[in-house]
Amino acid sequence: MSAPLLSVENLSISYRSEEGAVQALRHATLEARAGEAIGIVGESGCGKSTLASALINLLARNARVTSGGVMFGGRDILSLNDREKRSLRGRHIAMIFQDPMTSFNPVLTIGEQLIDFQDQRGNMPRSEKKVRAAAMLRQVGISDPSRCLDRYVHELSGGMRQRAAIAAALLMTPEVLVADEPTTALDVTMEAQIIHLLRELRRDYNGAIIIVTHHLGLVGELCDRVYVMYAGEVVEEGSTDDVYHNPRHPYTRALIACDPANIHEQTPVLPTIPGRLPDLVNPPLGCSFAARCPQATGRCQSVTPPYVEVGPRHAARCHEAAP
Ligand SMILES: Nc1ncnc2c1ncn2[C@@H]1O[C@H](COP(=O)(O)OP(=O)(O)O)[C@@H](O)[C@H]1O
Ligand SMILES: [Mg+2]
Repeated sequence: MSAPLLSVENLSISYRSEEGAVQALRHATLEARAGEAIGIVGESGCGKSTLASALINLLARNARVTSGGVMFGGRDILSLNDREKRSLRGRHIAMIFQDPMTSFNPVLTIGEQLIDFQDQRGNMPRSEKKVRAAAMLRQVGISDPSRCLDRYVHELSGGMRQRAAIAAALLMTPEVLVADEPTTALDVTMEAQIIHLLRELRRDYNGAIIIVTHHLGLVGELCDRVYVMYAGEVVEEGSTDDVYHNPRHPYTRALIACDPANIHEQTPVLPTIPGRLPDLVNPPLGCSFAARCPQATGRCQSVTPPYVEVGPRHAARCHEAAP
């Protein structure tokens, strides 16, 4: 098996807040290999975006790394200086955000920006960069690329904007592509189209793709491996097949049970996992999921569960999963 292209090692991140330090990410570990698509799933507030932003070193101002790092190309990217950070972003690791407006400057045309995003191709003439930009727009399904190039971001529909943002990321030919909830802001039809597009791109992309989503179907369609997050921790990881068909953490089982795709009866309200996320300023002593877990025992309330291997490259943070 190839060495990981990017690896997150024992990463903990907290945010300063009036209530105290919000422990948004606790001892997270993740590996992405070339050619692999990785999914990160979990309810809102579980730390997915915190992890994704660490992958490109784009942490919020009030964030603090309290342990570990993100290794890429033999270095911890969280310790880069500003100049090194700028050269990392885009060229080596690119991000697609939930809101594609964030990817573009409102006062420049899409074309100007898609040309500028190729600045690593220093001696290529602008006209050639423009041709590349148009070709990429066509590849992401924009049928009239030259018209799109002349537009401003607010003149595009939501779906078009996200396509253009994906084109922008790909033009930089990054080794790692991180997408944080790339379809959440879109309606169902657009979402299906973007999933289809990502699946096609996956086929010819040699880098690693990391997709953050609360949409399990998206991971099922696109990803080789999945990491399940709960309350700032990775609670299960494995091949998408193993995790979906043989989930070993009760939280993973609960997520799957609540997935609309698995609800066959007509219901006016979709089920959710009963209970709430724990307070991340004072995370619980034992298992973070214990208060909501149907199988929890006394031990789960007081003893932190180990992260145990339950199969080849399949692990879960649960006392019950331990062999
Ligand atoms: N800049 C911030 N300042 C304070 N708390 C934050 C900040 N960003 C995120 N959080 C908190 O950190 C936790 C994890 O958030 P986030 O990583 O956005 O989760 P997700 O993407 O899974 O919804 C949440 O409790 C959230 O409220
Ligand atoms: Mg998020």
